[in-house]
Amino acid sequence: MTQVPASDLTLPDGVRVVPGRDGLTAVQVDVASCFGELYLHGAHLTSWRPLGSEVLWMSGAAVFAPGRAIRGGVPICFPWFADGPDGTSTPAHGFVRTTEWGLVDATTDGRWVELHLALTDTEQTRALWPHSFAADYRVRMGEDELALLLTVTNTGDAPFTFEEALHTYFTVSDIRSVQVRGLEGSSYLDMVPGADRGPHVQQGPISFTAELDRTYQATGATAVIRDRDRSVTVARTGSSSAIVWNPWVDKSAAMADFGDDEWTGMVCVETANAKADAVTLAPGAAHTMTAHVSV
Ligand code: BG6
Repeated sequence: MTQVPASDLTLPDGVRVVPGRDGLTAVQVDVASCFGELYLHGAHLTSWRPLGSEVLWMSGAAVFAPGRAIRGGVPICFPWFADGPDGTSTPAHGFVRTTEWGLVDATTDGRWVELHLALTDTEQTRALWPHSFAADYRVRMGEDELALLLTVTNTGDAPFTFEEALHTYFTVSDIRSVQVRGLEGSSYLDMVPGADRGPHVQQGPISFTAELDRTYQATGATAVIRDRDRSVTVARTGSSSAIVWNPWVDKSAAMADFGDDEWTGMVCVETANAKADAVTLAPGAAHTMTAHVSV
């Protein structure tokens, strides 16, 4: 598909392509129901503000630069999660979060705005992962819901297996008084360095008293972030893994693009297929994973 430059597309009222931070290109949505911002770099959503209230979390120390992942918002992890199935894949969380995507179009029905982005393999991606693929990403935002739909198609002539995540960072008032509910009874791997990896079974709601990094497996359960004055619901389809993460004190301090004190204000509840839930696609086959976020 020949990609029309984003600046040459005819976009609906309230959607515009703008110069983003540090020379990157962003698409802004500014309509009655919400404000949203997405960088073509990584197809990275950095804001969804229904009725003036921000739902996503962005680090004040985030770096906006080619080749670097943006800290916060919604990075897309593909075709592997973290360091991949055997722990040796680089860059961490795959290469599409640091690759420029194409804006295909934007549509609206008056209540919703949908941004449609696409990415296909190139010589550079095949050097990192030797497969032909098409990734199609739709970000639909409105007043009540943010829907993220990621479709991967195998455009090659051999099967491939991949991991993926919609790595949603959410803003919270204070992580120490937040609970994540809905994953009770699910099996998880404890990914905190040095911890007993498990598998463990989630007992009761998740609360946060130290670094927490859990990969829930074989579950499509809806998760609810219960914060002081609001609840954020993350419902999933085509996703069998959920990752819940807060870096707490030491890991925050160790990350250059994450403010030392910012860990109190965020939590990641991610929609994924990772580890044993990796997806295998035959040639010509497609798989769609969706996250539906509502407040
Ligand atoms: C989470 C992982 O999804 O992403 C954590 O579970 C990881 O282990 C975190 O630290 C952030 O990863 P990155 O590569 O963006 O620093």
